Amino acid sequence: MFDKEKVKGASIGVKFCGYDLQSPFIVGSGPLTYGSEGMIRAYQAGVGAVVTKTIRLGAAINPAHHMAKINNEAILNCEKWADSDRFQWYEKEIPEAVKAGAIVIGSVGHTPMEAQAIVEDVEKAGAHIIELVSYTEDTLLPMLDYAKAHVNIPVICKLSGNWPDAAATAKKCYEHGADGICAIDSIGPTLMIDVEKRAPVMMSNDGYGWMTGAPIKPISMRINSQITRNIPGYKNLYGTGGVMKADDAIEYLMIGCNAVGICSVGILKGLDYVEKMCYQLSDRLAQLGFSSIQEAMGVALPNFPSTENITDMGFHYEPGKCTKCGRCETVCCYNARKVEFPEMKLDRTLCRSCGLCADVCPTHALTSFVEEQSAENAKRAAASKEFDALVKEQSPKLLEH
Ligand SMILES: Cc1cc2nc3c(=O)[nH]c(=O)nc-3n(C[C@H](O)[C@H](O)[C@H](O)COP(=O)(O)O)c2cc1C
Repeated sequence: MFDKEKVKGASIGVKFCGYDLQSPFIVGSGPLTYGSEGMIRAYQAGVGAVVTKTIRLGAAINPAHHMAKINNEAILNCEKWADSDRFQWYEKEIPEAVKAGAIVIGSVGHTPMEAQAIVEDVEKAGAHIIELVSYTEDTLLPMLDYAKAHVNIPVICKLSGNWPDAAATAKKCYEHGADGICAIDSIGPTLMIDVEKRAPVMMSNDGYGWMTGAPIKPISMRINSQITRNIPGYKNLYGTGGVMKADDAIEYLMIGCNAVGICSVGILKGLDYVEKMCYQLSDRLAQLGFSSIQEAMGVALPNFPSTENITDMGFHYEPGKCTKCGRCETVCCYNARKVEFPEMKLDRTLCRSCGLCADVCPTHALTSFVEEQSAENAKRAAASKEFDALVKEQSPKLLEH
């Protein structure tokens, strides 16, 4: 059971859509929130809010097998929406979770017709916020228009990282009156083959499924940063995808997200781990010099580069921290790095300043920093720019990738 008294470092409470959340973690719509018991357990583990499994007109019937482990930090699934009747959500699941103290976000999918049939009942059932989820922007916006005109609680929209420009959709959602955004949903379709069975692992109608967990975090981070960097006045944005530990959550906060969604971590590691993550978030923020979540929000935004950094990488090495594991040497594709303990050698003529050797050091014995640009590197930077200009002239789209 989450105990506020055990929060020893930075304060971790946040405001979201006008509500005070005990932590920035919002359990995303999924199997952890299949009903009131799951939502209450998550709330007791310290999460700030819970999103119901997506409610639709008909209850889902899921195939067996519909959830599989890709690795310890990632899941493949072809699970559909809520497998219980929508009236059960209005009469039992939502009211029970609200009564237990949870901030409940009612997830409603996936078509305008369903939004019309469901959103008002979800509000009446006591949900604090509505989250709309759909397959395309064309269907999401009419759902939003209807919800905004017919309910008095905040309405947020969930975006898919599979859409060509999810940040542009976020902008439209705000223009249509959305009170907040969740980015992103699962990534896919994706495929996994069971080599023993010689068959796809997912028993969906085509064998494909959707990926969640650590591998989708960089995609979600990019989309969330496009929202925070390009939409002035964005609000109530919760970044979702691949949060497996406190530092992942801090990354989302540092690019300006107001809260952080979690799903796979709670499934793979359990809610006890989520509770620990709340305390760890507090400790880690304090260690980084922050006394609250608010202080950390958006601090990385001024540090995005505006131009490519063509210079050399400098390195620090502390033999006292080195375990002689040799990972730095292994990952050097150019054979520039050699551990000759207690010395750390680098052949500057071979090194390309990629930075990976320091990045893989498990104890931070080897760290990197960016050196001032030398006259020689300034020449290389100019040559690189010239080449880019030439490519752009001939093929304007190419440099976008
Ligand atoms: C098994 C499973 C079922 C899910 N079901 C839903 C759902 O019904 N509605 C929805 O909006 N998102 C659903 N999601 C997506 C999650 O809410 C979340 O956006 C996604 O898992 C990314 O977060 P994560 O990397 O922390 O897992 C589901 C995810 C998983 C793993």
